[in-house]
Amino acid sequence: MDSLIALMLTIAAVVITVMLNGSSSRLRTAGTVLASIACLVCVLWFFLVMQTGILGSPREPTLPTDELKPALLWIFTVISLIGGLFLLWAALEQRTRTNLVQLSNDNSAGQYGRVSRYLHWITAILFLSLFPIGIFATMIPEGTEWRPSYYAVHKTIGILVFILVFIRVMWHVKSTRPALDPSLKSWEKNLARIAHYGLYFLMITLPITGFAMSTYAGNVSKFFTWELPLLWAADDEAIKLWGLLHKIVLPYLFYGLFTAHLVGAVKHHFIDKHPKNIRRILS
Ligand code: HEM
Ligand code: HEM
Repeated sequence: MDSLIALMLTIAAVVITVMLNGSSSRLRTAGTVLASIACLVCVLWFFLVMQTGILGSPREPTLPTDELKPALLWIFTVISLIGGLFLLWAALEQRTRTNLVQLSNDNSAGQYGRVSRYLHWITAILFLSLFPIGIFATMIPEGTEWRPSYYAVHKTIGILVFILVFIRVMWHVKSTRPALDPSLKSWEKNLARIAHYGLYFLMITLPITGFAMSTYAGNVSKFFTWELPLLWAADDEAIKLWGLLHKIVLPYLFYGLFTAHLVGAVKHHFIDKHPKNIRRILS
């Protein structure tokens, strides 16, 4: 069952991405509507989660940041709602747009090609989904019947992100990434570079620390139906270190870098009025 849920999430990410970068205006509009529905499904999921009563009486807290989890889930839900409504509006705007970007597989000097776009958006959707899934998984009391499924889905998607980032780095060795938009000011370019390299760092280190933490706890990691081997013995001291990285240091670093990434994209599009910038990676 958990492999099926992970597979459905993966298929949803692929379908949305392919449609968003489709070759006709109709396909892209439908992709935007689908992305909006996905955001609204996240909101619905949160309201179902609230019905379980777990937010009010979660598993015994073990870390100082555990108290923040209900607030974090609320923030994700509000962002999903705003994102879903914004995408609906964007779909209405898109219906009448005729100046479509023509894509080749390779990157060019001024824009990302089809392969880089696919890798960016599939990874972004899967990566973002891991936060609510991971945070809620850690709140479910021990012994709850469906608790292991949350962990299995989280681990499968996390390992998939790791594989995708590896393919992405290989692809960018073959097909050089375009230089940043020349219209950016020099401080904006520096911030964008820090955010991009930082996000790559996190896409690599979050899966590694998650796998290490699970293995030190003596728990097998699942990748769809395949159980990965326990590569080393359990160790209580090591869990603390890897857990600190996976559950506090790296996620909070992500919140900071992602805010910079998103605010940069929104500012460039709506405030600086350079709509071509977002179209370098999103048709
Ligand atoms: C939904 C929100 C997101 C938006 C609106 C967005 C937007 C963008 C845009 C506009 C660019 C192109 C920058 C340029 O002109 O060079 C870009 C590139 C990039 N984004 Fe995102 N992004 C999002 C989510 C993410 C996530 C979740 C990650 C990582 C976990 C990520 C990682 C990257 C990286 C590493 C690049 C550099 C290009 C590459 O190497 O593929 N983005 N993004
Ligand atoms: C890009 C990949 C990943 C991201 C963004 C991510 C993110 C997260 C987040 C935000 C949490 C909640 C932490 C908390 O608030 O306590 C979490 C928990 C967890 N993650 Fe990941 N994770 C990723 C990959 C993995 C992988 C690959 C594994 C294992 C193979 C894994 C295993 C776990 C486990 C076991 C927990 C729960 C720990 C507990 O019950 O205390 N994660 N993850």
